[in-house]
Amino acid sequence: MLIDKNNIPIVAMEFMNDVHGEDIDIINSLFELIVNYEQNPSEENKITFNQTYQEWIEHTMAHFQREEKMMEEKRFPPYPFHKGEHDRALEKMHDIFHTWEKTNDIGILKIYFIEELPLWLENHIKSMDTVTAIFFRTGLSPCAIH
Ligand SMILES: [Fe+2]
Ligand SMILES: [Fe+2]
Repeated sequence: MLIDKNNIPIVAMEFMNDVHGEDIDIINSLFELIVNYEQNPSEENKITFNQTYQEWIEHTMAHFQREEKMMEEKRFPPYPFHKGEHDRALEKMHDIFHTWEKTNDIGILKIYFIEELPLWLENHIKSMDTVTAIFFRTGLSPCAIH
């Protein structure tokens, strides 16, 4: 298992915690598929990995869009910062996939999944998602606290 759910912070909105749990399940499955492919680089293993990766992108787009929609509806002041992190993360997910397709080098994915992704996810939930969930629940914006 790449990411232990117990290490991921809980935020003040249940729908966000639910989607984060689903995200971690997909990431853990993808990591297993990476290791499988490394041990047995068959066409079949590649197809399974690629399909699951596309499902992960779709799940992530829905995850981010739901948060963004609510931030817009509730007029969350630091919306552009939070959306900016989402956009950069999705761009990275696409870039890594295209590099993998071009090079067929599973090592690039493995490094990204070990060194970058868990840290990004934990930091994003700990910072952006945490303050956003508090705002959804209480109306308190971090911009108002000086
Ligand atoms: Fe989130
Ligand atoms: Fe977020």
